Amino acid sequence: MKKIILGLLTLGTIGTMTLHAYSDADRIQDMQMMEMSMAKIQKGILYNNKEMVSKGVNKLKETATKVEISKKDDMDYSAKFSKKQSDNIMKFADKVQSEMSAGHKHGATANYTKVLNQCVSCHNKIRKWN
Ligand code: HEC
Repeated sequence: MKKIILGLLTLGTIGTMTLHAYSDADRIQDMQMMEMSMAKIQKGILYNNKEMVSKGVNKLKETATKVEISKKDDMDYSAKFSKKQSDNIMKFADKVQSEMSAGHKHGATANYTKVLNQCVSCHNKIRKWN
């Protein structure tokens, strides 16, 4: 009986590990989530809706921390590079938030563009996209 329980526990652990492995599909889903967050931030700036900007920033940061990028055949960047991109995304997203809270829509927009540039500089390194 003990052996069976142990066996089931082991199977359970393997199952959980498999579930937690970060797949290409997970990455695409996270990328789409970040795109939606960026759209929300832009909309919030245009409608002068601080709450909307705040929600977009939070979702963007939440997703940016869990995105995993590894060096692959069709991608030409290192883990160090992608870590820097995501650190920058967090930093500029915070600035979007603080500028918007202070009522500085131009400042929020300038930092929104800085976030977008981080997205694009990584995308520029994806060989199959060139
Ligand atoms: C460190 C690298 C990196 C950064 C930073 C990055 N991306 Fe991506 N992005 C990728 C890769 C790799 C793919 C391609 C995924 C695939 O096709 O497997 C991708 C694909 C996408 C796609 C297309 C998804 C689809 O359905 O095909 C969108 C949209 C996207 N990213 C949005 C963003 C946004 C928004 C940001 C910034 C907030 C961002 N990305 C930042 C690496 C990055």
